[in-house]
Amino acid sequence: MKGLILSGGKGTRLRPLTYTNAKQLIPVANKPVLVRVIESIRDAGVDEIGVVIGETGPLIRETIGDGSKFGVKITYIPQDSPDGLAHAVKISRDFLGDDRFVMFLGDNVIQGGISRLIGDFANHDWNSQIVLKEVENPTAYGVAKLRADGSIEQLIEKPKNPPSNLALVGIYMFDQTIWEAVNSIKPSPRGELEITDAIQWLITAGRTVYPHVHKGWWVDTGKATDMLEANSLVLEELTPTIAPDAIIENSHVDRRVTLEKGAKIINSTVRGPTIIGENTIIENSYVGPFTSIYYNVTVLNCEIERSIVLENSTLSDLNVRLQDSLIGRYASVSRNDSRPQAMKMNIGDHSNLWVV
Ligand code: G1P
Repeated sequence: MKGLILSGGKGTRLRPLTYTNAKQLIPVANKPVLVRVIESIRDAGVDEIGVVIGETGPLIRETIGDGSKFGVKITYIPQDSPDGLAHAVKISRDFLGDDRFVMFLGDNVIQGGISRLIGDFANHDWNSQIVLKEVENPTAYGVAKLRADGSIEQLIEKPKNPPSNLALVGIYMFDQTIWEAVNSIKPSPRGELEITDAIQWLITAGRTVYPHVHKGWWVDTGKATDMLEANSLVLEELTPTIAPDAIIENSHVDRRVTLEKGAKIINSTVRGPTIIGENTIIENSYVGPFTSIYYNVTVLNCEIERSIVLENSTLSDLNVRLQDSLIGRYASVSRNDSRPQAMKMNIGDHSNLWVV
C-alpha cells in the first residue's frame, strides 16, 4: 500500500499567511498540518508517500525534505495547474503503479488517525473506501446519499440541495480500478476533475465502495476559524510534557500545558490545554486555554487565549486580551503609548483586524 497526499492549492482563504507560506505548513498545536498527515499515514504502516505539490512546492520540499526525519520516503509529484483531485491522482500514476493506496488531503485533520481504516481496507476486497462525516453545511463538500442498508446510492460534489448531511472527508482508499474511473470522467462545473465524480463512476460501474461513517471530529482547515478549531481539538488530546530545560519562575502553569525546549515562563499564568514552543518567552502575561505559541516568540505584559501565534513574533504591553486570533511569523503587536493616542497599523493584504 502507498500513500498519496494532495498538498497543492493556494489557500486563498488563509491570506495573508498563505502569501508567504503553504496552508498545509501552518501549525496546529505547534506541528504543521501536513506533518500530522504524514505521521498518521506512517503510523498506519505506510511509508512510501507521494506528495502532490503546486505553486507552494518549494516551501513544502524545504520543510518536509525526503521524509527521512518522519521515517517515510517522500516522492514529490508536481501538479502544473490546480485541475482537481482526480487530476492529481492521474498525474501520480507512475508513482502509484498498480498498488492500492490511501489518498489524504494535506489540509485535513481527523481524530484518531487512520490505522483502523487502512486495516479495514486491507482485510476486505473493496475497490474503494470513503470516509463520511455528518456536517452542518453539506453544500461546501462532496455529499453521500446512503441506502437503508448503508450502501452508497449517490455521491454529489457541492450539491445545491444536499440529499443528506454526510460529507466526504478528505481521506480515500483505492485499488487499481480507480484508473479507469479518473480517465473516464469530465471536468465539473468548476472546471475540475472531481474525485467525487470518479468514485460515483466506480459505483455506477458496479464496483464496491465502502462508506465508513466517522464518529470523531474532523476539520478541513480552509479558513482561520477552522485552524483555531482544529488547534483546540488537537490540544485537548495532546499528552502534556515539560521539556527538561524549560524554565518556570514565579508562575502558575496548569497540568495540561506543554512546554517545548528552552521555553521560559516568568511571572505568568498559563492554563491548558496549551503549548508553548521552543525558546519562547512568556513574561508578566496570561496564556489561556486552547493557545499554541510556536518557537522564538516573546509575549510580554499581555493576555492571550484560544489563539495561534507563529514563530519569531512579539506581543507586548497590550491592555486588551487577544482571543480567537491567528498571528503570522515575524509579526509584532504592541501598544502605542505616544501622542496622538491612535491605533497604528501596518498589516498585509487581505488581513482582518477586529478592534474593541
Ligand atoms: C474537496 C472535495 C470534497 C470533500 C472536501 C473535504 O473539496 O472535492 O468532496 O468533501 O475536499 O475536505 P475542496 O477542498 O476541493 O473544496
